[in-house]
Amino acid sequence: MYDDVVLALVDVAKKHGGYGDEVADAMKTCMSALRPLLADEDPALVTYFRKSAHTSGSRVLYYDGFLGVVFNEVKCGTIIPIHNHGLPEVVGVYSGSILYRTYNRLDNGDVPNVAELSLREERLMTDGDVSVLPEPPNDIHGLRALKDTLVMNIIPGALQPVRQYYYPSESIYIELPAGTKPADGGGW
Ligand SMILES: [Fe+2]
Repeated sequence: MYDDVVLALVDVAKKHGGYGDEVADAMKTCMSALRPLLADEDPALVTYFRKSAHTSGSRVLYYDGFLGVVFNEVKCGTIIPIHNHGLPEVVGVYSGSILYRTYNRLDNGDVPNVAELSLREERLMTDGDVSVLPEPPNDIHGLRALKDTLVMNIIPGALQPVRQYYYPSESIYIELPAGTKPADGGGW
């Protein structure tokens, strides 16, 4: 049952290139269907662990070498600084509450370490809410957890080995290897 629910989401994701409104709707359906299945069971028990720079626990529900569906645990009060992956993404809140921000990039990327951003979305997301992050260069996002939160992500491909961390108010970014995060906490 659990596998069927996740694979139904994967089927839709594959059909639509891993992101977009159809995939967002499928994620909502998937989360609703998973809730009773996981109600008495720690989601960690039905998934396997993946290291994350930002969260205390990242659990893989599905991965085929390209497309991934993961749960990320984000503790209350955690800020995941503004960053990119070099990929679009679908982000849902399975349980909990986050303030989620996404940005459009306005400059053409010609000047190293300079990035002009405009806030596209600042949204309170709670149980069942889903957001679609567009393709690069507008795949810029961050969040603050208002409760202990379990986030579901669909990652439609290989994450870039180098991440950009943005400081919107200063119109700059820095680059760091994936798996690390800014020593100063990054921009939010
Ligand atoms: Fe991210």
